[in-house]
Amino acid sequence: MNIAIMGYGVVGSGVAEVLKKNHDHIVQKSMQPSLELTRILDLRDFPGDENEKLFTKDFNDILNDETIGIVVETMGGLHPAYDFVLACLQAGKSVVTSNKELVAEKGYELLKVAEENNLNFLFEASVGGGIPIIRPISQCLAANEIDEIAGILNGTTNFILTKMIHEGMSFDDALKLAQQLGYAERNPAADVEGMDTCRKICILASLCFGNHVYPNEVYTEGITKLTLADVKYAQAWGGVIKLIGRATRYGDGKISAMVTPAFIQAHSQLAGVDDVFNAILVRGDAIGDVVFYGRGAGKLPTASAVVADVIDCAKHTQRRKNFGWENCIPNYVVSYRDIKCPFFVRVVSCDPAKAWAAAEKHFGEIKRLTYDGAPQDEIGFITPMMTQREFDEKAAVSGLTIGSMIRVTDY
Ligand code: HSE
Repeated sequence: MNIAIMGYGVVGSGVAEVLKKNHDHIVQKSMQPSLELTRILDLRDFPGDENEKLFTKDFNDILNDETIGIVVETMGGLHPAYDFVLACLQAGKSVVTSNKELVAEKGYELLKVAEENNLNFLFEASVGGGIPIIRPISQCLAANEIDEIAGILNGTTNFILTKMIHEGMSFDDALKLAQQLGYAERNPAADVEGMDTCRKICILASLCFGNHVYPNEVYTEGITKLTLADVKYAQAWGGVIKLIGRATRYGDGKISAMVTPAFIQAHSQLAGVDDVFNAILVRGDAIGDVVFYGRGAGKLPTASAVVADVIDCAKHTQRRKNFGWENCIPNYVVSYRDIKCPFFVRVVSCDPAKAWAAAEKHFGEIKRLTYDGAPQDEIGFITPMMTQREFDEKAAVSGLTIGSMIRVTDY
């Protein structure tokens, strides 16, 4: 059986490298007589590349080649990736992708097309890079009702936050370094504005709770507004700030899903996750909490997950994986404004005593936070549990100037 790769960027070239490096072992695991990479689609030229003879700029060279049974899509972006993947499935080829945008937007649809054609559409690498998470959720944890899933899902932002917190590096320098190391997306806004995490939590929520959750249903904040003062207040509280994607299931069949920076307690299993590492906490009714941890980005870790899916496709040509991923339903995702939690608030004021009195009056029992060297013209505190709707109403009538407002988690 032959394989094609569409997109020879960081992940695509990593897939070619792993397929070559571990060739014999991979063929043996696939239970196929042979498993060869025979085509690579990319519009760019790669003179002198060891795979030079395999390159084409014409998608039809893959589509019309009947010897190719598995196509790896590592192009990224929605178009033309979606069009190519759809055509491959309709032409009888299984598809493996690392493209979270594609899966988050078109997962249900492409799984349906794969089902109709008795093929596999696999996407282990789309969340958590090299961390096994899609298979564990759909297979190993299948006996559980999953109540919540939460994680540090973006290596670039976690790397940036780690460098800022522990090395005092500027945001720009840390981002540049992440890009040089191949962690960041082509457009780093997708990382730092939270979109990448949003796509990943959509995929996880769809898998865990059974109905497709689309990115436009998920409230998303990135890390661009975080200040070093926020980081220090989090330490004073007894924790750290992380960019968290999370989704929760409620008894009435509805769910919540959001991406925001959050205060995480120092003893939480998510708190010690630094650099490019990702961690995903799954809360099941039988297993309790289980955490998956590892390299969430990078060439070879991501290629590791892609190639595992390739082996799975090769091994199961007559069997299709069923993820139990159904269509979206209206009003399934409740508004982030109705989700209760405590909030960390940083108020800027030239009269902190007056600001504190106003904060107590409007927010109720608040807990003051401070740290050595905290600016004299601000106060930091934690509110009681409330919805964002309540928070916004109280903040408006209090007349306080809110510098930061960050959710506080219970993990
Ligand atoms: N840009 C992504 C990240 C790559 O930093 O996590 C892996 O999805």
